[in-house]
Parts: sequence; C-alpha cells; structure tokens
Amino acid sequence: MAQTLPLKPRLPLLVVSVCALPVLAGCALWSFMPSPAEGQRLYAQNCVQCHGSTGQGDGELAQDMMRKPANLTQISAQNGGDFPRTRVLSAIDGYAKGTRGGAMPEFGAFLDGPTVPVTLEDGSQTPVPRPLAALLRYLESIQAQG
Ligand code: HEC
Repeated sequence: MAQTLPLKPRLPLLVVSVCALPVLAGCALWSFMPSPAEGQRLYAQNCVQCHGSTGQGDGELAQDMMRKPANLTQISAQNGGDFPRTRVLSAIDGYAKGTRGGAMPEFGAFLDGPTVPVTLEDGSQTPVPRPLAALLRYLESIQAQG
C-alpha cells in the first residue's frame, strides 16, 4: 500500500511525456514536403481504378471510358523532360473542385487539412494541402526516364 502511493502523482506526468514525444515529432515532420510513399497510398485508394497500378492509364475502369485516363508516367516526357508541377497541381485541384468536367471524380478531401510549402518551376513557393502535395510527389516519382 505504502509503495503505490508515491506513484500516483507521477502518473499524469508520465502520460503527458509519452504522448508529447510522437506529437512533437509528428508536428516537425508534418510541415515538410510529404514523401512519394504517402502519395502512393492515396493513389492506390483513389486513382488506381482509372490510371492503373503503374500509372499508365490502364486501370480496370479505363476500358469502358469514352475519355481515356491519362498516362501519368508520361507527363514529364510530354513537357520536354521537366515535370510541370504547376500544371499537375492545377489539374488535380481542378478535379478536386469539380471544375474540370466529369471525367475524373471529385476529390474534395484532398483540399482539406494543413498545407505544406511546394516549390514551383519558377522557384516560388506556394502552400498546398498536404494530400495534394503527396500525390504530386508520387506522380513525380513515377515519370518515365528519357
Ligand atoms: C474515374 C476515372 C479517374 C480517376 C479515379 C482518376 N482519374 Fe485522373 N484522369 C482521368 C481521365 C479520363 C483523364 C484524362 C481526361 C481529362 O483530362 O480529364 C485524367 C487525367 C488526369 C491528369 C492530367 C494529366 C495531364 O497530362 O495533364 C492527372 C494529373 C490525373 N488525372 C491525376 C489523377 C489522380 C492523382 C487521381 C487520384 C487522386 C486520378 N487522376 C483519379 C480519369 C480518372
């Protein structure tokens, strides 16, 4: 009995320190550009059915579509070898807001939450919702070389 008493006041402190560590680490990481792997998860959940598992526009739904899903591995190649971040961001953003026709579903959820700074082609930085930035990074990582 006597031994358990001194533990009591320490308990809240322990809980606070155990919880605070991952939260602080999470905050620090959260403000940086997401990894392609983070985008890949979103891609697998939301894009693969049309654009295909390798991004070549050959997903399950593609064969029945009038307007074929874009081959997302050729975006750089079609742009002289440079990945056009601004254009791709505004494409996904346009779909997310439903302003780009009905070919792609709306992805409003991608525009939610905290933003991260994304560097554009001209060197300027713009705040982008994190899920959108993650998708951008993933698409960038799957560009065909040469
Ligand atoms: C229901 C099918 C469908 C889904 C799901 C879908 N897309 Fe698309 N996507 C299309 C079609 C069709 C086009 C080409 C026609 C157009 O431009 O609207 C396209 C075009 C694009 C383009 C433009 C490519 C370029 O060269 O400008 C991007 C970028 C893109 N999709 C990304 C995505 C991402 C990222 C996701 C998942 C978040 C996604 N798409 C989910 C059907 C889909």
